[in-house]
Amino acid sequence: MATTGTDTSKVTIVNHPLTRNILTRLRDYQTPSGEFREKARQLSYFLVYEAMRELGVREVGVETPIGPAKGVALSDYVVFAPVLRAGLILAEAAQELFANARIYHIGLRRDEETLKAISYYAKLPEALPNESRVFVLDPMLATGGSACAAINLFDKLNVTTIHLVSIVAAPEGVKRVHSQFPNVHITTAALDENLNEHGYIVPGLGDAGDRIFGT
Ligand code: PRP
Ligand code: URA
Repeated sequence: MATTGTDTSKVTIVNHPLTRNILTRLRDYQTPSGEFREKARQLSYFLVYEAMRELGVREVGVETPIGPAKGVALSDYVVFAPVLRAGLILAEAAQELFANARIYHIGLRRDEETLKAISYYAKLPEALPNESRVFVLDPMLATGGSACAAINLFDKLNVTTIHLVSIVAAPEGVKRVHSQFPNVHITTAALDENLNEHGYIVPGLGDAGDRIFGT
């Protein structure tokens, strides 16, 4: 399932010693679930922080104990869309960083035979403000079926700025997302080699949902 020619111009790989070290703990099959959850959450802060780099701000004044200073207030209408289940770990961190974001949970389950994403929950508003900035949160970008299904929900609402935040991405998934949604910016901690015959990312970190929540 190797894919070549991945367009990396819309992909940010967060490649910091701290994130690389955390990812190594996540990859290790011996890392117990408690530590896995804790490390996945830590990594989520860094990834969401990086994905939000282009967030809009407006200038405001502020009074320090010493006197007036210039500052900024966040001005974008932000939406987080965690893909259940594993995306909840990214959402926990994202919500702490941007408390006033709207959160729309997207229930998708990958059929392990066909590898197709099956929708079981989506409760979205009928419209979103034009200037909305949507962050689809899904730790594993494998075939890209789940990410595309989630992104499509917001694309249909005419949202123009959609980001995808993942922990590990496969070239196949990146290619699929960008073939359907060329403007989506992907932020990830790693772009791995390929998918195996079961649609798992190689080397990846295994089944993210199971490792976070248990089988
Ligand atoms: C996993 C993962 C992604 C999806 C990625 O979810 O969390 O959502 O697979 O695979 P894809 O790119 O091939 O669609 P899963 O369906 O296992 O659900 P879970 O998070 O509830 O375990
Ligand atoms: N879903 C996962 O949790 N891991 C993979 O490697 C692929 C899909």
